Amino acid sequence: MRILIALAAALMVTGTTAAQAAAPAVAAAPNINVANVQAHLAQFQSIANSNGGNRAHGRPGFKASIDWVKGKLDAAGFTTRVQSFTYGGATGYNVIADYPGGDANNVVMLGAHLDSVTRGPGINDNGSGSASILEVALQMKATGFKPTKHVRFGWWGAEELGLIGSKAYVRSLPAADKTKIKSYLNFDMTGSPNPGYFVYNGREQGIPPGSVALQQRLEAAFTSFGIKSDLTNVDGRSDHAAFAAAGIPTSGTYAGGDEPKSAAQAAKWGGTAGQFDRCYHQSCDTTANINATVLDKHADVIASTVWGLAA
Ligand code: PHE
Ligand code: ZN
Ligand code: ZN
Repeated sequence: MRILIALAAALMVTGTTAAQAAAPAVAAAPNINVANVQAHLAQFQSIANSNGGNRAHGRPGFKASIDWVKGKLDAAGFTTRVQSFTYGGATGYNVIADYPGGDANNVVMLGAHLDSVTRGPGINDNGSGSASILEVALQMKATGFKPTKHVRFGWWGAEELGLIGSKAYVRSLPAADKTKIKSYLNFDMTGSPNPGYFVYNGREQGIPPGSVALQQRLEAAFTSFGIKSDLTNVDGRSDHAAFAAAGIPTSGTYAGGDEPKSAAQAAKWGGTAGQFDRCYHQSCDTTANINATVLDKHADVIASTVWGLAA
């Protein structure tokens, strides 16, 4: 009898295991393969090389970047559109890409500016954020992620001239569509050669209160990869500002720019005290101006945060 019970229990356990294996598992965030992100950066570099050395607003390298990003997303099955705007006598563009499915009244949005300055190819600023959210988008499809919330991506034009594209996008949204966006995460410079691991401060002046929860998710993701991040006040210097001004909770990550890196930061993050990115806004912001480890970790943080936030 005891044997029979044990057998039955064993069968039940077996049955449960089989059922669990068959059920669609809650997808764990994929670890982003940094080689894929680097391949996108190589594409941006090649676009700059064949278009006068930059990918700036109003220049052919910018439109080529837009077309290439849109093509990758279309091929993966995203619903894309190009929004145009005019600035400084030139046409600018944003790519908006919707991942099919999820609750349309509960939107998680991620964004990165796709333009460079005219002086260089803009690989860290901001090929890095652009390539990273692109790879996260592609991995959503590749892994068959089925989020409860709707996920949307934006690649912005003319950030370098005053957040022009992201402001145009937010301004274009009817009030009802604005309120559907519950969170906006921004990625601008995530591959800095002298690494940094910053999270946008959710308590910064002018940033909506719900932003602290986003900040904490990003911090927790860094912690899960064994990284001690610091908070940074971005002070309206990137595209989340347009969303924050509309009352949408925002945060993001940043690997540092031309500001100084302290000895304490060098001790905990590697690299050296000095600037995070000596090639900021210069012609040397090429694929050589990227630290693969910092690029990889920020991309992994983006993926794990999207999976956690949208699931
Ligand atoms: N937005 C700035 C630029 O594109 C860089 C930046 C990113 C500054 C994040 C602060 C924080 O030049
Ligand atoms: Zn930037
Ligand atoms: Zn810049």
